[in-house]
Amino acid sequence: MKNPITTPWEVSGDIDYDKLIKEFGAERVKPTHINPKAHHFIKREFYFSQRDFDSWVKAAESKKKVSILTGRGSSEKMHLGHLVPFVLAKHFQDKYKCNVYLPISDDEKFYVKPNLSFEDAEKYADDNILDILALGFKPGKTFVLKDLSYPIYPSAARVAKLISYSTAKAVFGLKPETNIGWSFYPAVQTAHILLPQFIEGKHHTLVPIGIDQDPYVRLARDVAQHSTLNFIKPATIHSKFLPSLKGEAKMSSSDAEGVNVIYLSDSPTEVKNKINKYAFSGGKDTLEEHRKHGGNPEIDISFQYLKYLFEEDDKKLAKIEADYKSGKMTTGELKAYTIDKINSFLKKHQENKKKIKSQVGKFMLKF
Ligand code: TYM
Repeated sequence: MKNPITTPWEVSGDIDYDKLIKEFGAERVKPTHINPKAHHFIKREFYFSQRDFDSWVKAAESKKKVSILTGRGSSEKMHLGHLVPFVLAKHFQDKYKCNVYLPISDDEKFYVKPNLSFEDAEKYADDNILDILALGFKPGKTFVLKDLSYPIYPSAARVAKLISYSTAKAVFGLKPETNIGWSFYPAVQTAHILLPQFIEGKHHTLVPIGIDQDPYVRLARDVAQHSTLNFIKPATIHSKFLPSLKGEAKMSSSDAEGVNVIYLSDSPTEVKNKINKYAFSGGKDTLEEHRKHGGNPEIDISFQYLKYLFEEDDKKLAKIEADYKSGKMTTGELKAYTIDKINSFLKKHQENKKKIKSQVGKFMLKF
């Protein structure tokens, strides 16, 4: 087994999600969360870990003020995995009619990626914002900010004063010799997480994220109740990672050739070729063997994409799983179904992205 690493800048190896829950001091999502009416991300335990999720839901259901915050570090065009926290944020905005804050850390990626220019960090930020808003967030209740143009500094300074360098080092393994921008950045993302409370006063905030982003939530929870802030500790809910096409733990844009990743801008032909050529299959080597012994959906990437993202209908998913396991459904058929699902999602997404372009101003957080 490869030694697993899960940090905000590197995810590799075979991840043991149960171990991460313990390491990060979180809790599994509870059986009461996994009810039939829950979003399929939660019901199917794609979101598997949380802190204070119950308190946030309770506040939302008793009509108290609640908000949601989640962000994106723009260094590249976005892929399917990046959408995961935003899809859940949008779901809860629809359900509870709450405000959603969407910070874009164009500064973070500028510091962290040696070859990313200032101009490109900005360019990707603007493109990524369109992808996020294409999900259908509500104008007037959705607030986007870019670190390099929104005045995040006053909030970051108030947070930075409460974080010692040794804490930042322990949480992130930061090395001062990298660059001092990167060393300061944890204060910025911690400020993002507390921003709804800086702006609207003390209330319950939920932070849906991939579990790699958890160190920032831990910092935000550590400082939230300091007497100079007097906030409520933000709640969080963590997702597992959508795997790469080849079956690595995380779909990631660090794949230089882009053949392991499905981008939101991919054409129908690109999706078809990528799934057919690269999506790891749990099927057997020959049709005869497959019919006889069946496939293994647990390791089949097309099935994982259906389960976590594209097949919301539980009955249909269960039938696909049973047919694939029994050998009635072939790998070719499973891949064709998945290609269709992804392409119909992307077609709508790409249309929405074009339409939202003229509306972006309505969503930018004013200051
Ligand atoms: P970033 O841009 O790397 O990723 C954005 C969000 O997507 C999640 N993610 C994935 N989730 C599931 N499967 C995948 N394959 C996958 N790849 C990425 C990430 O965990 C993340 O939640 N520093 C942040 C951006 C940020 C932020 C914030 C996040 C700035 N401020 C405040 C949360 C709260 C980043 O670089 O994410």
